[in-house]
Amino acid sequence: MKYCIVTYGCQMNVHESEKIAAILEKIGYNEFTEKRDEADIIVFNTCAIREGAEDRVFGNVGALKKLKKQRKDLIIVVCGCMTQKEETAKLFYQKFPFVDIIIGTFNLPQLEHYISAVKTGRQLDLKTEGDIDEVNPYKRTSGENAWVNIMYGCNNFCTYCIVPYVRGREKSRKKENILNEIRGIVAENKYKKITLLGQNVNSYGQDLEPKESFSNLLKEICQIEGDFKIWFMTSHPKDLTDDVIDVIASEDKIIKDIHLPAQSGNNRILGLMNRKYTREKYLDIINKIRTKIPNCRITSDFIVGFPTETEEEFEDTMSLVDTIKYDSIFAFMYSPRIGTVASKMEGQVDEKIKNERVNKLLALEKKIQKEEGKK
Ligand code: SAH
Ligand code: SF4
Ligand code: F3S
Repeated sequence: MKYCIVTYGCQMNVHESEKIAAILEKIGYNEFTEKRDEADIIVFNTCAIREGAEDRVFGNVGALKKLKKQRKDLIIVVCGCMTQKEETAKLFYQKFPFVDIIIGTFNLPQLEHYISAVKTGRQLDLKTEGDIDEVNPYKRTSGENAWVNIMYGCNNFCTYCIVPYVRGREKSRKKENILNEIRGIVAENKYKKITLLGQNVNSYGQDLEPKESFSNLLKEICQIEGDFKIWFMTSHPKDLTDDVIDVIASEDKIIKDIHLPAQSGNNRILGLMNRKYTREKYLDIINKIRTKIPNCRITSDFIVGFPTETEEEFEDTMSLVDTIKYDSIFAFMYSPRIGTVASKMEGQVDEKIKNERVNKLLALEKKIQKEEGKK
């Protein structure tokens, strides 16, 4: 029996698809296929971060209507961040009667149950929270890189972002569980790079009893013997403390590459975004990194066209990028997400202006990379 998994969104989802693969293989789906018309089960692991991501899912799931007509025994599953939203889950249920299983992010550990229950009828189930799953294994599919989740959820509520609503509050895994997983990965001798995952890795352990710190976790991971490198994402500028920078600087096993999303270079917009740092504080951190870790790669994310952003305020983002000269950036047009604070703000920016700004920012980044390349 063949299975197909279609993954959208961030590394967290990529890794969760490795869990889906392990569950499917356990219950008899023994061969992965990219071809949807060959699969006995198709799982869409969805992302809700921007409207574009959601539109792609609607389009691709909708396109399976014909296939399901020809192959009544095909099972179609939609899970992940999109279907963690009640309205979207219901929409899938009503609009796509050929989708068999619709579940949210907290239901994933019980996927096996929903697949066996599908004999009795369509499954729509949404838990609003759940414990950390330490039971299901992963079928690692990312080559020499092994993903390791160190925490789930997010407490930050940046006003544009849907993640806290679909992933719940921050929950850190116990340090021993993380260290044991990494010892196991290293012992397999197949992986050169271990990437630690969390929406905000710098606040790792703040919810544990007793509290733990990210820098301490990094140190202990580096003490594990073996030939491997450590990387992690994502860091939030408000929580990237000196002790973390010092550990990155001093440990050979840690890759000198920090993804530090700034989102905007303007203080009024950063305030409206609820990012809890200023342009000056951000520049301070960058300076610290460059002093303590010369040649460290630094990358960032930016959102253009946040509600009420003026041309001058956008220029502050341009000048921040020009000052820092990142190794690479992602730039996104602001996409209103239902339920978030920013989606209700007055002064939504025209799509055409967002488009102009994103192109301008990306053109600047291209020019910087060319110049830096020459150097
Ligand atoms: N937890 C990470 C990343 C979350 S999502 C962090 O805090 O940096 C990845 C990126 O998507 C964000 O950094 C942001 O730039 C972008 N993003 C999030 N919500 C968005 C929205 N509503 N519209 C456009 N881009 C968004
Ligand atoms: Fe979203 Fe902000 Fe949390 Fe990142 S830190 S996941 S942008 S709310
Ligand atoms: Fe998307 Fe969910 Fe990740 S919304 S970016 S897949 S946490």
